[in-house]
Amino acid sequence: MENAPIRNLSVSVFYDGRWFELRTYANEYRSLMMLIYDKVYIDGFGDCVGMGKCGTCLVEIVKRKYELTDYDRNEDTTLLKSGNTGKDIRLSCQIMIDEFIDGLKVNILG
Ligand code: FES
Repeated sequence: MENAPIRNLSVSVFYDGRWFELRTYANEYRSLMMLIYDKVYIDGFGDCVGMGKCGTCLVEIVKRKYELTDYDRNEDTTLLKSGNTGKDIRLSCQIMIDEFIDGLKVNILG
């Protein structure tokens, strides 16, 4: 596997019928949820501000180049409660902004 870059990371987000190409760098935001919240402006997205409890930051992983780095705050329980158990469905607040996010493509589910 190639080395991941640390700066100038690229994340593609599909929302409201179009792709948003977001640029960031390692640790600019606490999580993917915060990056999306700040740059795409989705109403009601990330209600619990990253505690992994509200389930309003759901994304479907469409494509990734690397294993993503996770926090481990209530994600499995929240996904189970909301009935979202697909392996590519994640809480974006539990995905860190580090070099392994480069090239990630996600679809916003809500
Ligand atoms: S922001 Fe609430 S679960 Fe992610």
